[in-house]
Amino acid sequence: MKQILYGGDYNPEQWPRETWEEDMRMLKNAHINTLTLNVFSWALLQPDEDTFDFSLLDDIMDLAAASDMHVILATATAAVPPWISAKYPEVMRADKRGVRKRGGGRQNHCPTSADFRRLQLRLVEEIARRYSGRPEILYWHISNEYSGRCYCQSCEQAFHNWLRTKYKTVQAMNEAWNAAFWSHTYHDFDEVPVPGRLSDGMQGGKAVLPGLSLDYQRFMSDALLENFKAERDVIRKYDLHTPVTTNLMAGCGDLDYRKWAREMDVVSWDNYPARDTPASTIAFWHDLMRGIKDQKPFILMEQSPNQQNWMPYNYVKRPGQMKEMSYQTMAHGGDDILFFQMKQSRSGCEKFHGAVITHRGKEDSRAYQEVRSLGRELERLSCIRGAETPARAALLFDYESWWAINGNVGPSVLVGYPEETARWYKAMFDLQLDVDVIFWDSDFSRYDLIVAPLAYIARDDSVDKIRDFMEKGGIFVTTVLSGMADETDRIHLGGYPGLWRDLAGLWIDETDALEKGEKIPISLFNQEVQGSVLCDLIHPETATALGVYEKEFYAGTPAVTQNRTGKGRFIYCGTFLDESGMELLMRWLCRKAGIEAKAYAGVEKKTRVSDKGRFHFVMNQRREATPVDLSFEGTDLITGRHISGMVMLDPYQTMIIRENG
Ligand code: GLA
Ligand code: ZN
Repeated sequence: MKQILYGGDYNPEQWPRETWEEDMRMLKNAHINTLTLNVFSWALLQPDEDTFDFSLLDDIMDLAAASDMHVILATATAAVPPWISAKYPEVMRADKRGVRKRGGGRQNHCPTSADFRRLQLRLVEEIARRYSGRPEILYWHISNEYSGRCYCQSCEQAFHNWLRTKYKTVQAMNEAWNAAFWSHTYHDFDEVPVPGRLSDGMQGGKAVLPGLSLDYQRFMSDALLENFKAERDVIRKYDLHTPVTTNLMAGCGDLDYRKWAREMDVVSWDNYPARDTPASTIAFWHDLMRGIKDQKPFILMEQSPNQQNWMPYNYVKRPGQMKEMSYQTMAHGGDDILFFQMKQSRSGCEKFHGAVITHRGKEDSRAYQEVRSLGRELERLSCIRGAETPARAALLFDYESWWAINGNVGPSVLVGYPEETARWYKAMFDLQLDVDVIFWDSDFSRYDLIVAPLAYIARDDSVDKIRDFMEKGGIFVTTVLSGMADETDRIHLGGYPGLWRDLAGLWIDETDALEKGEKIPISLFNQEVQGSVLCDLIHPETATALGVYEKEFYAGTPAVTQNRTGKGRFIYCGTFLDESGMELLMRWLCRKAGIEAKAYAGVEKKTRVSDKGRFHFVMNQRREATPVDLSFEGTDLITGRHISGMVMLDPYQTMIIRENG
């Protein structure tokens, strides 16, 4: 597979056959080489329980083959057909209030329904048997954007079994959940309710018994993963080699994607930024999606050629912006670039979603022309596929800490896990650092600097892991609300940051919460910056202050500290630093780690490396022409021009420079 796959979702089943040939002509002309087929076709493939009809899909597959298109073939299980919801109402999901959906929508099945499992696998079996071995199929695409939760009785029972396996005895479970709180002691696993609105699930996902809620999230993520694995295993009966994936959503916290990635042959994800999503956040999403699979290249399964339809305000990507975002994807490890979708729906709730072929259906449309121009350029860039994205700095991400922090009642409603980790990522992005997103089970030894914001859940082995890293000279940075709780959210006693007290060389007993918009001045390296949201009252033991609060009764006490042990450093940040504070701290960290830091100023630079060369992506992410001074020289693979020194980039222009020598 040498070529960059370029194309995406195509739904010819929604269109008269007479239109197909013209679609193919237009898509070929736009350098499209791949079609994602069959994502939402279950109701057409199987009109009732005993009948399958593949005639339409056969024709669509033949169309693709005749047009020399690669195919990403979906298993069509992402939306339950009406005949199933009518015949087996319990296949549908129940919401938080316990109300079962009657039908319609998508991602609407109960993950533990035995009827769903049987019907799902029967369909996949038919599809896999029929189409395996067709040379145009390059990936299997299972379901679509797994997400959400079910709160039905079947899930409740399955949860009980999951708990039995995990805890063995109900006493062990009670203890892990500190269930004596508010008279929650259980005497049988079967008494445990699903944490919806009929029981302990509070508004906004807050939890009465955090251990129970956390376990339910783990269980739901696992239950949906079982759906995925079951389909994958059926495919493997017929096809031993074609990689299997499902399209993820980087910003979605429903599933533990780190766990999911282990079961996926390749990660793919869907990138739908809003108008005001900063380039740093998109970069973070890409790095997260690469990180869950230990930095292996990923597929961009979907993006819009021009606009979405499901946001409050669906901006149109500016001229050049879709291209720039595609190159940013590649710069961060994306090897294939795909769209939702090839042809704009005529009706349905996505009729206003952008597509390569718009309602007007002409080749002179702006989006079509940009897609075509990118397609032409990508044909020159296949040498980059598979290249690595080396990094010495890492951001530690943890889905369980995200879930636990979401469930916390207190200390402040302003704490958001993905938002705060994205701010720390941005501080690294703004200094042009190459960053890997890593997890607790990643290999820390590859990095000189690890930033672990809001690392709330700390398992016992985290202590040795951090200590080993520091012994080799690593710098570990963490923040308020870190090291605090065990895996069922019981606070580690003896003062915060819990298990990491000795590593941090300090203790904390109280944390002040500020109101929205409230700031506290901090002197950090003798410069004035601001903190907000939370302020730990830090009592240093062996730690020394890098920054101190300048207001409140805790004025003069440390806000940011350093604890040195051997060659390593443990940096603790007790508040939400503002941007200038983070920049100051990050520059200092880079100096200590020996990592080069350069200002971003609207042009992102990233490097991918393989035995085919060093590829420097230089991306103007601004709507204005922007100068950039390059420290390397080489050939821009897009224009073929020799590039060195000071260059001017057009709005949203990217250069991909293969370094000389
Ligand atoms: C998701 C889905 C697609 C489509 C797009 C629209 O990513 O996977 O089917 O609905 O959103 O943006
Ligand atoms: Zn259910």
